[in-house]
Amino acid sequence: MTTKQIIFGVLSAFVFASCSNDEKVVFIYADETPVNPPVQATLKEKAKFKIGAAVKMKDLQGEVNYKNAVVKHYSQITAEYEMKMASIWTSSTVYNWTAADYLVNFAKDNNMEIHGHTLIWYDSFPDWFKNAKYDSIAFEAKVKIYITDVVGRYKGKVKSWDVANEVFADGGALREESVIKTVFKDPIGFYGRCFQYARAADPDAKLFYNDYSVVLDAGKRTAIKKMVTRFKAKGYPIDGLGDQFHYANDTNKQTMKTGFTDLASTGLLIHISELDIKVNTGKSDSYVFTDAEAQKQSETYQYITSMYEELPQNQKFAITTWGVTDKYTWLTAFWHPKEYPLLLDNDYNKKPAYQGFLAGLK
Ligand code: XIL
Repeated sequence: MTTKQIIFGVLSAFVFASCSNDEKVVFIYADETPVNPPVQATLKEKAKFKIGAAVKMKDLQGEVNYKNAVVKHYSQITAEYEMKMASIWTSSTVYNWTAADYLVNFAKDNNMEIHGHTLIWYDSFPDWFKNAKYDSIAFEAKVKIYITDVVGRYKGKVKSWDVANEVFADGGALREESVIKTVFKDPIGFYGRCFQYARAADPDAKLFYNDYSVVLDAGKRTAIKKMVTRFKAKGYPIDGLGDQFHYANDTNKQTMKTGFTDLASTGLLIHISELDIKVNTGKSDSYVFTDAEAQKQSETYQYITSMYEELPQNQKFAITTWGVTDKYTWLTAFWHPKEYPLLLDNDYNKKPAYQGFLAGLK
């Protein structure tokens, strides 16, 4: 009991003795109102799996509220771009480890995990690499060295990697604009060997394939499942699948669930890897994020986290949001300046979306 409660108790007993019966009843009820309402659990406290956020070094260093929010709500981080090939591999003979090292150490110092994103992404091959016009033998030899060096450097520290990102286009064909499609006769074989190189560099790291619209696009899902079957037949290691989940308030929830169940049928670990929920779906310049819109967004988040909870426990890996606060979401540059897709608002206050996410967790 606090001093305040003791004083209040003594006072109430005194007044109670000198009041009429009606007044006594009212006063006793007032006294029973809890002085300290229970403290609400944060996302990472409630979840029985990792809750991740994509973060940027410059924001962690530049804004203490950002850093505090990451540490308070999350148990895992992903580098938003600092661990992509173009950031690390600055020339044929030079690696820039500054930001990647910072983020790996940040995770360790704050008792968090870090998910590695991403070793092979068509969109992040450095210009010097593309300009070299390697044939398939030289290309693979270079990439093998890169994977071995990066995964080896963070062996035991980065416990999971997106080995390959966005191999397939919408509908499930191999992505035409990818340099890998141009160089290799059998791109899937190349990707399989990349998983092998990663496994050799850190046998304990969990290896993921990551893509977008996986649960919505049945063609893409079929292509991914076919790749997994081939990997298994060939002995190429793969532990998990990530769907980015850059979805929106108007994404069809039933389609999402059907696709999610289908994805889970692989038996692999499942990562919701880049979750954010767009609200300004029409990209309108006059868009206003009203309470009603915020409520809809909250319901979408709740639907997604409760859907994830239906997975068998041994397939739950993590849910990662692509960012921490609406203030720095990538979508203001890549979608529309008026966009509010995350769990915390510009001032790091919890949005209804946060409560929805939390409510969906078991
Ligand atoms: C985005 C980042 O958020 C941006 O900051 C960066 O400039 C471009 O990439 N799918 C992915 C992520 O797998 O790596 C992308 O991240 C978003 C789409």
